[in-house]
Amino acid sequence: MKSCSGWRRFLICLPIIFFLPFMFSVLELHENSYIEKLPKNHGNKFNHLVLGPAAGQGLHDRLQCQGLKPLNKTHLPNMSGVPDFKETVSFLTVFTIYNTSVSAHVEDRSTDMVTVGNALYNKIERSMAVLNGFINFIQVSMPQSNIIILTDPASNFSIHKKRVTVFPIQGEYSRDRLMLQRIKSYIAFLTTRLEELSQGKDEIHHYIFTDSDIAVVDDLGHIFYNYPKFHLALTFRNNKNQPLNSGFIAVRGTSDGILRAKSFLQEVLDIYKSKFMKASRMLGDQLALAWLVKSHLSFEAKRFTKSQVFLEDIGGTSVLFLPCSLYNWTPPEGAGQFHGMPLDVKVVHFKGSRKRLMLESWNFYNSSASVGISDMLCLILMSGRTKYDF
Ligand SMILES: *[C@@H]1O[C@H](CO)[C@@H](O)[C@H](O)[C@H]1NC(C)=O
Ligand SMILES: *[C@@H]1O[C@H](CO)[C@@H](O)[C@H](O)[C@H]1NC(C)=O
Ligand SMILES: *[C@@H]1O[C@H](CO)[C@@H](O)[C@H](O)[C@H]1NC(C)=O
Ligand SMILES: *[C@@H]1O[C@H](CO)[C@@H](O)[C@H](O)[C@H]1NC(C)=O
Ligand SMILES: *[C@@H]1O[C@H](CO)[C@@H](O)[C@H](O)[C@H]1NC(C)=O
Repeated sequence: MKSCSGWRRFLICLPIIFFLPFMFSVLELHENSYIEKLPKNHGNKFNHLVLGPAAGQGLHDRLQCQGLKPLNKTHLPNMSGVPDFKETVSFLTVFTIYNTSVSAHVEDRSTDMVTVGNALYNKIERSMAVLNGFINFIQVSMPQSNIIILTDPASNFSIHKKRVTVFPIQGEYSRDRLMLQRIKSYIAFLTTRLEELSQGKDEIHHYIFTDSDIAVVDDLGHIFYNYPKFHLALTFRNNKNQPLNSGFIAVRGTSDGILRAKSFLQEVLDIYKSKFMKASRMLGDQLALAWLVKSHLSFEAKRFTKSQVFLEDIGGTSVLFLPCSLYNWTPPEGAGQFHGMPLDVKVVHFKGSRKRLMLESWNFYNSSASVGISDMLCLILMSGRTKYDF
C-alpha cells in the first residue's frame, strides 16, 4: 500500500520495459546509442523511478532479468556457506544532522521538498530516510548484526530501533572537515573498543565502517570466516587515480585486528593531513588510502585491474582487498560503461544523486512479501542509468 503512487508510475513504464530489451539487443554493441534512448526530462534528473533496459544481457556472470523477475537464483536464504558463524558483526556509519532553522524561506522550502512513494521529505528528512534505509537493509540481510551510528554530540536526531545505538564522538564535523573527522571518529571508536577488550570483555565483535547510502543485500559475516587472516579489509576497483573507495572498511574485532586497523587508519590520517588537505573535501581520505597502499604495493598496482580478492601486508597490517564489483557496487548512472550487475553482489552503493533509487528500492522490496532481494536487484539494474534528483 505504502508505495502505491510510485507503483502506478512504474506501471506506466511497463510497456517500455518489455519493448526495450528487444529493441536494444541489436544496439548492445554500441553502448552510446543505447544510452541516448533512455527517456530524459528537462533537468536530466528524475523525481520518480525510471527503468531502462537491463545491462549485461546474455553475459553468464551477470544478473539476467525478465522485467523485474530475476532469471538467476541469487541470494537464497542460508546460502552464505558459513555454518554457524556466531561472531557478531556491527555496522558503523558517521551521520550528523543539525537542528538548524529549516523554515528559512518558504520558497526554498517548497523546491526542497521531494516525494518518494507516499512520503514527502525535506532535506533533513531525506537524510533521515537514507539512514533508515541503510538500517532496514542491514536488518533484512543480517538480522543478528548491530548498527552503531557515530555522530557529533551536537547533532540532533534520534533513532528508536532495536540493535541500533547512537554513539556520540566529540569532533569537528563541518562539511569540509567531515571526511577527516570520519577517520578520526573511526579511530576514536576503535580506541574505546580496545579499552573494553583490555578490561576482559572478550566477545568478538567485528566491525564494518561504511557510508550510510549503501544497501547490504547479503550476509557479510562470511568475509571474517572465509578470510581468517586479515586485520582490515578495503574495497578496490580498476581506477588508476582512485583505486580504493573509503566507503567500506571492515575490521576484525580481535585485539590484534583492532590494534593493527587503528594504526593503519592513523597512518591514513597522517597522510591525509600532510598531503591532501587541499584535495576536494570528499576525496582526501581516498587519496590518502591509495597513497598509503601504493607506497607498499607499487610493484603490484596491476592487482587492482582484476576483480579478485587478495591479501597484502601493508606495514604490518594484513589488508584484505575486496572487489568493489561485489562489495561496493555502484550503478554507473548516465554515460560510461555498464556491463550489468554481477551475480551475488553483496553491497550496493547509492553514491551521489542515486539516493532516491535507494529509497525506491526499499519501498519496492517492502511492498509485498513476494518481492525478494533479487527482484529488487533487477529494479536497481534496470534503473542503473537513470540520474535522480537526490
Ligand atoms: C543466469 O540465467 C541465465 C538465463 O536463465 C542463464 O543463461 C545463465 O547461465 C545463468 N547464469 C548462471 C551463472 O547460472
Ligand atoms: C535456514 O536457516 C534457518 C535458521 O538457521 C533454519 O531454520 C531453516 O530451516 C534454514 N532453511 C534452509 C532452507 O536450509
Ligand atoms: C528542532 O528543535 C525543535 C525544538 O527543540 C523541534 O520542535 C523541531 O522538531 C526540531 N527539528 C528537527 C528537524 O529535528
Ligand atoms: C533536538 O531536538 C529535540 C526535539 O526535536 C529537542 O528537544 C532538543 O532540545 C534538540 N537538541 C538540540 C541540541 O538542539
Ligand atoms: C514496510 O511496509 C509495511 C506495510 O506497508 C509498513 O507497515 C512498514 O512500516 C514498512 N517497513 C519499513 C521499515 O519501511
